[in-house]
Amino acid sequence: MTAGSKVIDGKVLAGQVRQKVRDFVPAFVEKTSIIPGLAVVLVGDDAASQVYVASKGKAARECGLNSFEHILPQNTSSSDLLALIATLNADKTVHGILVQMPLPAHLNEYEIIQAIDPKKDVDGLTLTNVGKVGSGHLEDAFVPCTPAGCMLMIEQIHGKDLSSLNAIVIGRSILVGKPVANLLLLANATVTIAHSRTASLPEICSTMDIIVAAVGRPQMIRADWIGRSTPRGPTIIDVGINRIDAPERGPGKTRLVGDVDFNDVEPFAGAITPVPGGVGPMTIAILMANTLRAACIATGEPTPRF
Ligand SMILES: NC(=O)c1ccc[n+]([C@@H]2O[C@H](COP(=O)([O-])OP(=O)(O)OC[C@H]3O[C@@H](n4cnc5c(N)ncnc54)[C@H](OP(=O)(O)O)[C@@H]3O)[C@@H](O)[C@H]2O)c1
Repeated sequence: MTAGSKVIDGKVLAGQVRQKVRDFVPAFVEKTSIIPGLAVVLVGDDAASQVYVASKGKAARECGLNSFEHILPQNTSSSDLLALIATLNADKTVHGILVQMPLPAHLNEYEIIQAIDPKKDVDGLTLTNVGKVGSGHLEDAFVPCTPAGCMLMIEQIHGKDLSSLNAIVIGRSILVGKPVANLLLLANATVTIAHSRTASLPEICSTMDIIVAAVGRPQMIRADWIGRSTPRGPTIIDVGINRIDAPERGPGKTRLVGDVDFNDVEPFAGAITPVPGGVGPMTIAILMANTLRAACIATGEPTPRF
């Protein structure tokens, strides 16, 4: 039996968020004479990180924001990186600071992230912002970009109030799993958090209205995990980005897949995000929104809603 499904197009939704930022910026600049600025710091020459940093800078410029890219060599010392962050913290033209992860192994990610001024922490990873999200103080919190993007996608299907809905988050990382679970709880869902030590995961998933997969295991979630008890089928948000071999595309070729086996699961889902083109584009769009919010908060201007 197929319940019929709806693919949630992350590119379209992300485009709407970016357009809202683009539309808001001119009046903000006119009123404050300030251009919101995003500083992105990359240490080392990781190829995927270089692509991410370039696309964040491009998105910022397209939204009318200033983009400051700081590319540092692989052997940058902790003290040099901390000194740059201190400079950016004090720089009035910089409203958002993002340090691209992963950092080279000799740098302590926790120490570096905590050095960012929480008011400029547009990635939402400092303890201040983690605490605000965990305690439900979202007004001036920076919610991590990927979890905030997941919630916007869920909102498309279920609205803002998830009362009476059962949701599972597979994965408990600080970056994705835990903040998504907190946000679902704040939206009144009944939340289960699963991880690598969880037993009977397929059975638990089969009872859920919402499944958020943030694991990093290619195509782990298959059709037999999906419940058939409701006519609509669950909403499935696939955060995973995994590169797998694609010999069908030619020798040595690869392709990106999510944590969900999309073709297998799609017929039984009420709504589902693809990979690529799902959660990924949302992450950058929310980064733009968070940078604009940071500038609004810094200047005492009202913040737009996304
Ligand atoms: N779309 C985007 O913009 C975006 C942004 C960030 C991340 N991602 C992707 O999302 C995925 C997750 O990222 P992350 O940073 O959260 O990864 P992570 O820090 O490695 O966390 C993975 C989580 O999955 C759990 N897990 C691992 N194997 C499992 C299994 N067999 N069954 C159930 N749970 C299992 C782990 O459990 P334990 O805690 O027990 O080890 C852990 O909590 C990755 O593919 C990443 O590339 C995408």
